[in-house]
Amino acid sequence: MPQTVKGVISRSKGADVEVVDVVVPDPGPGEAVVTIKTCGVCHTDLHYREGGINDDYPFLLGHEAAGYVEAVGEGVTDVAPGDFVILNWRAVCGQCRACAKGKPWYCFNTHNATQRMTLTDGTELTPALGIGAFIEKTLVAAGQCTKVPEADAAAVGLLGCGVMAGFGAAVNTGGVTRGDSVAVIGCGGVGNAAIAGAKVAGATTIIAVDVNDAKLEQAKHFGATHTVNSTQGDAVEAIRGLTGGNGADVVVEAVGRPETYEQAFYARDLAGTVVLVGVPTPDQQVTLPMIDIFGRGGSLKSSWYGDCLPSRDFPMLVDLYKQGRFDLAAFVTERIGLGDIEAAFDKMHAGEVLRSVVEL
Ligand code: APR
Ligand code: ZN
Ligand code: ZN
Repeated sequence: MPQTVKGVISRSKGADVEVVDVVVPDPGPGEAVVTIKTCGVCHTDLHYREGGINDDYPFLLGHEAAGYVEAVGEGVTDVAPGDFVILNWRAVCGQCRACAKGKPWYCFNTHNATQRMTLTDGTELTPALGIGAFIEKTLVAAGQCTKVPEADAAAVGLLGCGVMAGFGAAVNTGGVTRGDSVAVIGCGGVGNAAIAGAKVAGATTIIAVDVNDAKLEQAKHFGATHTVNSTQGDAVEAIRGLTGGNGADVVVEAVGRPETYEQAFYARDLAGTVVLVGVPTPDQQVTLPMIDIFGRGGSLKSSWYGDCLPSRDFPMLVDLYKQGRFDLAAFVTERIGLGDIEAAFDKMHAGEVLRSVVEL
């Protein structure tokens, strides 16, 4: 039987989000209905609402979620009713060229659930990032559900997006290893997760760079050994100074602006790795001398979803959290209701929160 539940939609470009009734159908073949416990508020939700992604309004927002599988459709064997799961953006195909190369985070042949959730008048909703989780129950592909050990949903649900992206940028894309020096530019949710990843991977020098002293203070909690406020001087010089004049082995850029891309490029050691996880807007440009691109060696990589494998990485990170080695709960600045999302967007803009998390 289709169920009618409360969910948060963005009805038209730029309009405030609304809590409305949403009709959730039974799961079809390969699908699951998940009872959402928590869902973090991410920049991408705001981009959908502001019209930065596409025009398929109305959107069902929310995508950093944890909950319990309520029901599964035909042929689903990986998850079962009652399982505690974290949702991921994409059920990968396992067969395309990216999947065959063992890089499923580049899979575009994804098998997400068909868009069958509607308003009560039948209007079809587009789920944000193929999830749509600011809602009491959602319909996803079973491949978007990763079973993990039971833990505080608000904390571990953040692995569904920003925290995984940051952790994976350092550990999976950057390949940080013991003894490395790591610089992280931008210490929001993504950057702090990169810092935590660098710590878990054994980096000995972890330099946090931000324009906000409060953010730098928080970064120490996640593992930063040094902090640099880039409004107080040249960040690249400061990073070199802290790394014996060399630059960092791995630099993670977690802002997405031209000046920080440029800082990241020059802050690496010769043959170091620059990892770009901050997402720029389409109009932004950087200009770099070719001699520097060639002459500095190493690599410049972008990181998509932290190059993660949800079935490998989500349970591992929940274990690290439960062992006290990765403080996922510290990313949760506030716990809010479905009706508080506009206010959470404002706090995000003002830089007052790492994450606001909706509890259902
Ligand atoms: N130099 C250094 N830090 C900066 C600068 C700058 N010029 N401008 C902003 N920052 C800092 C902010 O003070 C803040 O601490 O960058 C941080 C950004 O954090 P959030 O706004 O919380 O964003 P977050 O969710 O961490 O995402 C960061 O990664 O995945 C992408 O789309 C995401 O582009 C975004 C980036
Ligand atoms: Zn694929
Ligand atoms: Zn997100």
